[in-house]
Amino acid sequence: MTTQSQEQARAANGGRDSLTVTDNRTGETFEVEITDGTVRAMDFRQMKVSEDDFGLMTYDPAYTNTASCRSSICYIDGDNGVLEYRGYSIEQLCEQSSYLEVAYLLIFGELPTKAQLDQWVHDVTMHTFVHENVREFLGGFRHDAHPMGMLLGSVGALSTFYPDANNIGDPTTRDIQAVRLIAKMPTLAAFAYRHAMGQPLVYPDNALGYPGNFLSMMYRMTELRYEPDPRLERALDVLFILHADHEQNCSTSAVRSVGSSQVDPYSAIAAGIGALYGPLHGGANEAVLRMLQRIETVDNIPGFLEGVKNGDERLMGFGHRVYKNYDPRARIIRKHLDDVFEVRGKSPLLDIATELEKRAMDDDYFVSRKLYPNVDYYSGLIYEALGLPVSMFPVMFAIPRTSGWIAQWLEMTLDSEQRIARPRQIYTGERVRDYMPVERR
Ligand code: CMC
Repeated sequence: MTTQSQEQARAANGGRDSLTVTDNRTGETFEVEITDGTVRAMDFRQMKVSEDDFGLMTYDPAYTNTASCRSSICYIDGDNGVLEYRGYSIEQLCEQSSYLEVAYLLIFGELPTKAQLDQWVHDVTMHTFVHENVREFLGGFRHDAHPMGMLLGSVGALSTFYPDANNIGDPTTRDIQAVRLIAKMPTLAAFAYRHAMGQPLVYPDNALGYPGNFLSMMYRMTELRYEPDPRLERALDVLFILHADHEQNCSTSAVRSVGSSQVDPYSAIAAGIGALYGPLHGGANEAVLRMLQRIETVDNIPGFLEGVKNGDERLMGFGHRVYKNYDPRARIIRKHLDDVFEVRGKSPLLDIATELEKRAMDDDYFVSRKLYPNVDYYSGLIYEALGLPVSMFPVMFAIPRTSGWIAQWLEMTLDSEQRIARPRQIYTGERVRDYMPVERR
């Protein structure tokens, strides 16, 4: 909301939003336009100390205050704990929608009609199989290969199965790769898991829904048909919705950056999987689980919290760079925990997690720093209840994030302002040195 004095200042500036900058090196003054709460970094290049000066650059390691694109896909209001996909609240989508419908919404921008949804679900379902050679090369991974590494490698390899994917200028080609990626990701993920377990691979069952088919490929053994429990299927679908997109995070930026070279989407999304593999991104839920195991009993919570406040420990699953309020995704996951425990039996870690959250929320250390549970606080407990090893946790994140990566990649390919991503640097090394032959060094 603008105040009266702000209105007056703006009127005095002819109604324009701008910044007046004085370069104290030269005494020159510049007017820099403000649009959508941003200034253009390129506008600073005109500020030079001499004719041959390159011009002023902005320095922003880790892009903490730099918008790299315009996007209409995902909106986050971190202070108020709001997350929306294409304007629909995450709460309503988790309550009423399905992951595949959300994937359609993210990619095409609107909720589908009944006919569009049926066609979309049919298309994705018809592409769940992978080429038999994929199965063969997955067999080449070591028996104890990390499933995320296998997923990374196999998604990258898909580009060699679909050379047409290089034709990113063609809308039909782009759309078919989107369908293929969303359809095949659960198959590759489940194949990686079964390989790690030393179990025979289970082919997709196209009579099942998206989450049900994934559970079948993961857990089916000798039964003729796997019947997923609807409560588990729903909980998994909700987890998929919650993880589908989160605007310009590390892996999405990686997909956009690699995709800006106009490489095929399989290679760009393999880069996203690489980024998600890291413990600072897709790995925090594993850390939460290990922390709860280490605390062991509710009685140990006060001592653990003291350790956190002394700086010896970190309360994993708490705090977020953007959310300075309860992460809305954590609240939704918490609600679905009971359904999963009803089927699989309650985890003894739940009591510790619940009590730990309660005590932290009553403690001024966490309240004053606006540290609330984030998406990872409870998701690990669901994955554990589903019988997943911790190495599968980031894979469970990558499956649904694929729709967000594709939506962001498609948006980028159609954005006329985007060019190949190419940041600048501040060079800090030596200059103009004479080469010294090795025998004289
Ligand atoms: N436990 C204890 N203290 C914390 C925590 C925590 N989890 N998080 C932040 N703080 C303290 C921090 O020590 C600092 O205190 P002080 O002002 O006294 O120095 C203050 O709170 C501000 O923290 P920060 O480190 O400046 O915050 P950040 O925005 O750089 O870090 C974070 C965000 C998520 C990396 C951090 O909160 C953290 O390490 N949390 C635990 C790991 C975790 O749960 N990560 C999952 C994030 S959600 C996944 C996703 O959305 O992709």
